[in-house]
Amino acid sequence: MIAAARTQVAIIGAGPAGLMLAHLLHESGIDSVVVETRDRAYVEGRVRAGVIEHHTASLLEEFGVGERMRREGLVHRGIELQFGQERHRIDFEELTGRTVTVYGQQEVVKDLIAARTRAGLELRFESEVVALELGAGDRAILRVRDAGGRETTIAADFIAGCDGFHGPSRAAIPPSAITLYEHVFPFAWLGILAESPPVSDELIYANNERGFALVSMRSRTVSRIYLQCRNDEDLARWPDDRIWAELRARLQSDGAADEIVEGRIFQKGVTPMRSFVCDPMRYGRLFLAGDSAHIVPPTGAKGMNLAIADVRILARAFESYFATGSSERLDRYSQTCLKRIWKTQRFSTYMTGLLHRFETHTPFDRRVQYAEFDYLRTSRAAAASLAESYVGLPFTEDARVLA
Ligand code: PHB
Repeated sequence: MIAAARTQVAIIGAGPAGLMLAHLLHESGIDSVVVETRDRAYVEGRVRAGVIEHHTASLLEEFGVGERMRREGLVHRGIELQFGQERHRIDFEELTGRTVTVYGQQEVVKDLIAARTRAGLELRFESEVVALELGAGDRAILRVRDAGGRETTIAADFIAGCDGFHGPSRAAIPPSAITLYEHVFPFAWLGILAESPPVSDELIYANNERGFALVSMRSRTVSRIYLQCRNDEDLARWPDDRIWAELRARLQSDGAADEIVEGRIFQKGVTPMRSFVCDPMRYGRLFLAGDSAHIVPPTGAKGMNLAIADVRILARAFESYFATGSSERLDRYSQTCLKRIWKTQRFSTYMTGLLHRFETHTPFDRRVQYAEFDYLRTSRAAAASLAESYVGLPFTEDARVLA
């Protein structure tokens, strides 16, 4: 042990949750240290979803980290849903008065790292947490090993576990102190990035006999495309030609319908589909936020948005604690977040169920699935319900959605 540090909040993980929490705390004059196992290039290159909810975008702007998003992000006023060859547009702006912004999660991460670095605040990459000591006393201790193998300790009033599904923070909680809820879907998404102009101005979510397809984008020249695939999919089975052919088949776009431009594919990966919730999101001085506490299937693009909502609520609770000594908001943190998280789980489960092919589906199930699409197409109430969850529920406890 060669050095010890002291901070108010020790944050594990430099993803959107950890970095945004550090940023919000700094804006309130609260000191934090962020430790991250991976190096900066890895964190900045990690490809995730790219839809930013209305409230998330406003928060990034309010706190001075939304400038590049506003400049480079694409504002989307709706999405297209497609069943077989039928397409229907859900008009967010008309139904909710709100929009979403398409901007990659790793771009948000880059912007937050840049802000922290500019401010000269502590952000330690390649630093592995080897132990969390939550035991007794008025502080928690993190033991951290850096890239050179040196071990240091960080003593903190609180620890924020923003270290993802596989991180050490949730693992440090005795199993008897938490309940875990989990659902694993029987398929995954094959995701690619390609140098292709987007097929359409808006995202297309397609339910096809051959499986789900989603055409999204990162810019006017880069497409982000997903195809439903097997859970144990082997990328070697998906050469570029097969990906393009399958996309064409699922969008049923032979003919003049869509202009699919087969550009160079420069990234390929498989995203598992899982739902997960840890309740409560707190154990003593440790607070979980983001993927360490919950995972949603990517169909609603909610992962990062949920993480940002968690840390907004957590930052407020820390502010109140350090300003007044009252732990009332910290005590309510888990409950406040979980209400919103379960509603988002509901939405992500709904979107996943609506849009995918399930091997277990009977012809009856398929008819019901189609009826849901038809209902969305013909009922303003149904479309408005989808739209208000897609653009994002409010961050505040029990707020009325469209108030
Ligand atoms: C993405 O662009 O990566 C994306 C968009 C919408 C989703 C999921 C992912 O529902």
